[in-house]
Amino acid sequence: MTDRVVLAYSGGLDTSVAIGWIAEQTGAEVVAVTVDVGQGGEDLAVVRQRALDCGAVAAEVVDAREEFAAGFCMPALRANARYMDRYPVVSALSRPLIVRHLVDAALRHDATHVAHGCTGKGNDQVRFEVGIGALAPWLRVIAPVRDSGWTRDKAVAYAQERGLPVGVTHRSPYSIDQNLWGRAVETGFLEDIWNAPIAELYSYTQDPGLPRDPDTVVITFDQGVPVALDGETVTPLQAIRELNRRAGEHGVGRLDLVEDRLVGIKSREVYEAPGAIALITAHQELENVTVERDVARFKRSVDQRWAELVYDGLWFSPLRQALDAFVDETQRHVSGEVRLVLHGGKAVVTGRRSEASLYDFGLATYDSGDTFDQSLARGFVELWGLPSRLAADRDRRLG
Ligand code: ARG
Repeated sequence: MTDRVVLAYSGGLDTSVAIGWIAEQTGAEVVAVTVDVGQGGEDLAVVRQRALDCGAVAAEVVDAREEFAAGFCMPALRANARYMDRYPVVSALSRPLIVRHLVDAALRHDATHVAHGCTGKGNDQVRFEVGIGALAPWLRVIAPVRDSGWTRDKAVAYAQERGLPVGVTHRSPYSIDQNLWGRAVETGFLEDIWNAPIAELYSYTQDPGLPRDPDTVVITFDQGVPVALDGETVTPLQAIRELNRRAGEHGVGRLDLVEDRLVGIKSREVYEAPGAIALITAHQELENVTVERDVARFKRSVDQRWAELVYDGLWFSPLRQALDAFVDETQRHVSGEVRLVLHGGKAVVTGRRSEASLYDFGLATYDSGDTFDQSLARGFVELWGLPSRLAADRDRRLG
């Protein structure tokens, strides 16, 4: 039987050329798999047909949008995942899901290899290959762009020689990766990190400077997951989509940062993630109200570690599972409502309420109705400062 290779197919130039190239180099049959993680843009039926036209023996489109929203975006939300305190791990989040479907297709098609179109300079090669190694260590990996001296020009020449239907003439100067959770844009003039982003980079968000009335949205959470918007029940997928639209109209979630890649390179990326940033902003505030202080303080370091782990390609790792178990435990009471005002590029919390609130009006108030016994504070402060006082006395004694 002829060997089969399952290729992660985006529909772009590199992976289109890879179909024929892999077949030629290895004599194998290529099965193209495109995973729909809400990237939008091109009709995926067209992408599928392109794979067949480029010589794939089979091409599949997997609708993984619900799975991505519920099984990947929601855990990221519960962990307030933002790499380097800013980037909501958009691309990093989709890779393990794509890997799952590649492995599934490899099993169904009796494939021996999995192929991807990542370069050797980025994080995604790591995420794909570490994921495949964890789920199906017997599968071997083919990475033509990285391992075979592939250049853009060679790929274009190859496509033209063979008349591949890949529209190389309207090539974008940017490298773009997008999904339900957000959008990443790099390369082109952005590689000069002094250059400011320009309007044409953006597609999920409007210019935050456009004059527009603020939009107010109330998000209801149940155990850290959004379940209603303005009182209308939503699935995770609907919540993200709707907030992408509403927050996007106000330019929420634009980011421009130089980030530390796992391979050691610093790179500049422009992101837009309106829904993710609106949801994380609201979720964090509901945690402030419902999560006990020491759990909340500890969780901040867990959140950071979670984002780094997922960024670094270790979704399929015991530590991520263990951190998720911790996060799950912390979300038991993260239920209630947060009111957000979306305006001028910002999502601002203006109200919060919860049956599980730890906010006690009687303890907090400076007006009448105060239930806090201030006479207790004096002794508390005295003992709290005792170690510092002892140390300071000692230092004075010894000069
Ligand atoms: N730097 C981001 C990450 O490593 C995005 C990678 C893909 N970006 C792109 N523009 N193609 O998660």
